Amino acid sequence: MSDTTQELAPHGGENSAATTDRFENPGIPPHVPRRADVDPKAAKRAERQVAALFTLSMLGTLGFIAVYFFMEEGQRGWVFWIGEMDVYHLGLGLTLAVSLLGIGLGAGHWAKTLMSDVEVSEERHPQASDDQARLETAQHLSRGYRSAQLNRRPLLLMTAGGALSLFALPLALQVAGGLGPLPGNKLSITNWKKDMRLMIDPSGTPIRPEHVTQGSVFHVMPEGFVGEAAHELDPSVMMTAKAKDSIILVRLDPAKIKSSKQREWGYQGIVAYSKICTHVGCPVALYEQQTHHLLCPCHQSTFDMTDDCKVIFGPAKRPLPQLPITVDGEGYLVAADGFAEPVGPSFWERG
Ligand code: FES
Repeated sequence: MSDTTQELAPHGGENSAATTDRFENPGIPPHVPRRADVDPKAAKRAERQVAALFTLSMLGTLGFIAVYFFMEEGQRGWVFWIGEMDVYHLGLGLTLAVSLLGIGLGAGHWAKTLMSDVEVSEERHPQASDDQARLETAQHLSRGYRSAQLNRRPLLLMTAGGALSLFALPLALQVAGGLGPLPGNKLSITNWKKDMRLMIDPSGTPIRPEHVTQGSVFHVMPEGFVGEAAHELDPSVMMTAKAKDSIILVRLDPAKIKSSKQREWGYQGIVAYSKICTHVGCPVALYEQQTHHLLCPCHQSTFDMTDDCKVIFGPAKRPLPQLPITVDGEGYLVAADGFAEPVGPSFWERG
């Protein structure tokens, strides 16, 4: 690097200075007219396509309103390829998607085909107005404030503010209502119960302690919700069970377990933890055998399995809940009880 280059870049990186030194600004490439710029027929066609996309969006919005007001919440129906499901929420989702997609595609197509695509460069100027203009604006606003008598009539100011704020409330409540009923305590209850066997997911095989060797990881579901038995279940029950009951089973060296509660709730070093991340609910399924860390692939929350699955890194706010386990009379691992706390994201516990 020459002395000259260093002088050119007293604060910046050497590369940028060197680049300035060696390359000329190539400028803006010459403009290439698009078809719609030179052919009125192509422009008209593009205009019709954009209008069609905006019309599609309008139809989507009208469809959303129709579903919202004319279908019954929770209404179920048969949907091709999926089977029976909640068509009310499906309708809301699809119509809203069409509405947003129509606007997005329309605007994009408009910009690409009809709006000017001539590249220009503009000098940057200070954006703030000069002192004189700012003073005049302040005087203007202050005159308006006084002429509306807001300074002398605080009652009007407060009631107008209240009326305008409340005006939006019914709409907001209607929209929030469309998101479905509040979950109540459903989120804090799982299907795990005392004496329920731990079954390998997805085979549905019961597990003996001797199967769980150190370093191996078992993905587990409760008896009756996995394997053959799961085929009898309603798909929505199955999905809910997957989202709440999945656990991860690992054998640790008992000497490495730091908490006595964790040791007691386990069985000879085998411990079972909820697989649902306490951040926003992704499956925590990456086990680092050497460090005994459990990793959530979504936002990298990391839990220490030897220390009550406490969070040691990432955005999760609380440890993964532990499922107390033991063995039944036939020597299979079973739940000694249900979860003692809600599984999944911490915000479910609010209130
Ligand atoms: S869901 Fe696990 S870290 Fe975000």
